[in-house]
Amino acid sequence: MELSGRTAVVTGAASGIGLALTERFCAEGMSVVMADIETAALERAAERLTAGGATVLAIPCDVADADQVAALRDRALEAFGAVHVLCNNAGVASGRPNHKTKPAVWDWVVGVNLLGPAYCVSAFVPAMVAQGEGHVVNTASEAGLTASPFLGSYHATKYAMVGLSESLAMELAGSGVGVSCLCPELVDTRIFASTRNAPAALGLPAPQDIPIEQIAAAMGTTAMPPADVAAMVAYAIKANQFWILSHQSTRSKMMARNRRLEQGLNPVFGDGA
Ligand SMILES: NC(=O)c1ccc[n+]([C@@H]2O[C@H](COP(=O)([O-])OP(=O)(O)OC[C@H]3O[C@@H](n4cnc5c(N)ncnc54)[C@H](O)[C@@H]3O)[C@@H](O)[C@H]2O)c1
Repeated sequence: MELSGRTAVVTGAASGIGLALTERFCAEGMSVVMADIETAALERAAERLTAGGATVLAIPCDVADADQVAALRDRALEAFGAVHVLCNNAGVASGRPNHKTKPAVWDWVVGVNLLGPAYCVSAFVPAMVAQGEGHVVNTASEAGLTASPFLGSYHATKYAMVGLSESLAMELAGSGVGVSCLCPELVDTRIFASTRNAPAALGLPAPQDIPIEQIAAAMGTTAMPPADVAAMVAYAIKANQFWILSHQSTRSKMMARNRRLEQGLNPVFGDGA
């Protein structure tokens, strides 16, 4: 699919991968509807891009609210007439043991990471099918292919995103609407400061911006710049490529996990890394 002259909707567009996707799409000649819950950061980013000559429209939106997602669709169609690319990218993480995760934290993580993309699929895909052209990019994660301790709610939603994406791709085959499942390993963004967007009532700790090098060392990997991920996504849309894996190491971890599954062995952390 060609990108130039088309319109994209990117959720979580105020920061990290979503902002890099927006910048890449603008550079490809697209108009971009930028949606995010963090209004001040969203408006700052949109003003900067507009000043640089890009065509962007910033729309504050909590993707976990189906009514706000429907309003996002209506405003996008009103402004640009059609949506060709949907990037279900907004996401949050909360690191804590599964048995110590409060119901309200589950609601928050599942709402943003899984229900948000599901609502966006319901809102945007029917018109894409009707126009016979479009592409959905679902941001899952390496965490949707292999698991680790203390991130259960994140893994649960990202595994679900992989399943949603595979099912959607099968349903839409032949419709002119492609699907990609983005599974990054570590990317240099503010995902580790996700609690900045959590409802205050959850009582989650204030966000800490931990240096990415420290996180990369702890994870035994390297942090990819968001712009490199965005370039992979642009390629995948043009080539109608489903899987987008940022790091080669994800493949070996996933294969080790699948070997254990095939052999009926219990999961272990770090196998095959
Ligand atoms: N950074 C990584 O290492 C990494 C790896 C794998 C997957 N991911 C995924 O990439 C996606 C983008 O995250 P990022 O790494 O760029 O982090 P980020 O924190 O820099 O950006 C996430 C954006 O989502 C927005 N957001 C949060 N809640 C929202 C809501 N309810 N409605 C709308 N927007 C909301 C935030 O305000 C923020 O702008 C997420 O789905 C994340 O799970 C990130």
